[in-house]
Amino acid sequence: FQNGIKQRSYPAVVRGDEKEYIGFATLPEQVHRKSVKRGFDFTLMVVGETGLGKSTLINSLFLTDLYKDRQPTDPTEKINKTTKIEKRTMEIEEKGVRLRLTVVDTPGFGDALNCEESYRVCEKYIDDQFNKYFQDESGLNRRNIQDNRVHCCLYFIPPYGHGLRQLDIEFMRRLHKKVNLVPVIAKADVLTQKEKKRLKENMMKDIAANQIEIYEFPECDPEEDDEFKRQDAELKASFPFAVIGSNTVLEVAGRRVRGRQYPWGVVEVENQQHCDFVKLRTMLISTHMHDLKDMTQEVQYENFRTQCISQISQMAMKSRTKLKRESQTFGDTGQADKLLQQKDEEIRRMQDMLHQMEEKLRTQQSIDQGHDSVINV
Ligand code: GTP
Repeated sequence: FQNGIKQRSYPAVVRGDEKEYIGFATLPEQVHRKSVKRGFDFTLMVVGETGLGKSTLINSLFLTDLYKDRQPTDPTEKINKTTKIEKRTMEIEEKGVRLRLTVVDTPGFGDALNCEESYRVCEKYIDDQFNKYFQDESGLNRRNIQDNRVHCCLYFIPPYGHGLRQLDIEFMRRLHKKVNLVPVIAKADVLTQKEKKRLKENMMKDIAANQIEIYEFPECDPEEDDEFKRQDAELKASFPFAVIGSNTVLEVAGRRVRGRQYPWGVVEVENQQHCDFVKLRTMLISTHMHDLKDMTQEVQYENFRTQCISQISQMAMKSRTKLKRESQTFGDTGQADKLLQQKDEEIRRMQDMLHQMEEKLRTQQSIDQGHDSVINV
């Protein structure tokens, strides 16, 4: 204390040749502490026809029974059943890190002959969450926004076909700009290794031919160690993941495993020789969850925001034109001039914002294109 005032002491930066500790090296720890305290939100949407094993897979992924209260579905209702959204949230904690996981399921998807309703329901849900976030962001309580935006959409494809069906193409094309799409081959235990390989190749060809933008893994950091690089390359090479789900724990040669018992043997969910379940879980939870959230914020949400602001700005311009016309008709120039000035100011602000956002998106796209070309090389 000096003159009754508490003095802070800051360590010197450099004294002679000797570097002293300032303290900013603890910044990552500070960020880490703050994030851990706040907890994490993650929303996963699962889409695919009834009976493809969506609920089973989600339970296997998060080692829970998320659907225990669900009523059994009546098969006679299926043909005209409307697609509805079922949202379930749970808090999971691991080593002091809290994750608020929301799973958005779409029972009834693809049951009706016309799938328009199914697409519309999913699209609307995603847009509604963006809209809610946009309104929260523009409101007073911006610091405590709950992020309910969909960060990833697992799209289940049946293993029986030769590639993507028209229904899959339509759905993915409808949503690829709005969400990180991760296609998965469901019930992969019905496929031989050769069939699995062929189906994956055909699906990737269909995805490219129909210009569907699925979630693209970020480039691996060259600084990473060899083991990480190997895992990353393996993950990318196995895409789209062929998965198996089961809620049954079996005993195989003294080991307890999650699997499916068949007359000829056991298919193990977590055995990498049997399916890509572990790869999907690693990607979704351990390695790419943060990137999925980043992509949602930086690409999909920015797109949505740009469209919103552009619409608001068009509406402001229309109302300005109307105001001008009315003031000319009624000859009330004083008040109208003031209002016109306010409108002009509003439009200018919107256009500035739009300009900045377009610039940001352009930069992001050029980074992505650069990233593509590196991968192609
Ligand atoms: P809806 O809730 O109606 O949309 O169905 P869903 O997609 O959630 O399917 P669910 O998980 O209820 O599984 C349907 C049936 O498929 C159940 O009998 C599961 O045991 C079985 N099943 C789930 N996963 C697999 C799998 O990987 N392979 C095989 N062969 N069957 C599976």
